[in-house]
Amino acid sequence: MHQMFKSVVLAVLGVGVVAAAGFGLYAYRSPIEAMQPADRPAFDAATIEKGRILASAGYCAECHTAAGGKAYAGNFPIASPFGTIYGSNLTPDPETGIGLWSPEAFRRAMHEGVDREGARLFPAIPLTISPR
Ligand code: HEC
Repeated sequence: MHQMFKSVVLAVLGVGVVAAAGFGLYAYRSPIEAMQPADRPAFDAATIEKGRILASAGYCAECHTAAGGKAYAGNFPIASPFGTIYGSNLTPDPETGIGLWSPEAFRRAMHEGVDREGARLFPAIPLTISPR
C-alpha cells in the first residue's frame, strides 16, 4: 500500500514537471536582434503619414507621454489592479526608447505583446484604467 502511494505521488510529480517544462517552452519568446539606427529602412512620406494616422487612431501618445513631458518619451503612470504601470519611451533613442527595434520587433510587440528582448508586456489596453 505504502509503495503504491509513493508511485502515485511520483507519477503526479512527473506529470507536473513535464507540464511545467512544456508550458515554459510554449511561453518562451526569443529576443529579436537589435537593429542599428543606420540600418533602419527609410520610410517614404506616404508611409509616415499612414503611421501618423494609425498612432492617432490608437491614442498612442496618450499613454506614452507624461504630463508636461516630451511627446512619446513615456513615463505616463497608469493605475492598474496590479500596481502602477508606466507607458514606455517610444522615441527613437537607442538607449531609453525603441531606437534599436527592427520593424519585426515592433510588429511582434503590437500583435503579440512581446518586447524586443522576448519579455511579455503588460496588457495595458484591455484594462479598466484610471490615469493619475
Ligand atoms: C492605454 C494605454 C496605452 C495605449 C493607448 C498605448 N500604449 Fe503602448 N504601452 C502602454 C504601457 C503601459 C506599456 C508598457 C507595458 C509594460 O511595461 O509591460 C506599453 C508598451 C508599449 C511598447 C513596448 C515598448 C518597450 O520598450 O517595451 C510599444 C512598442 C508600444 N507600447 C507601442 C504603442 C503604440 C504604437 C500605441 C498606439 C497604437 C500604443 N502603444 C498605445 C500603454 C499604452
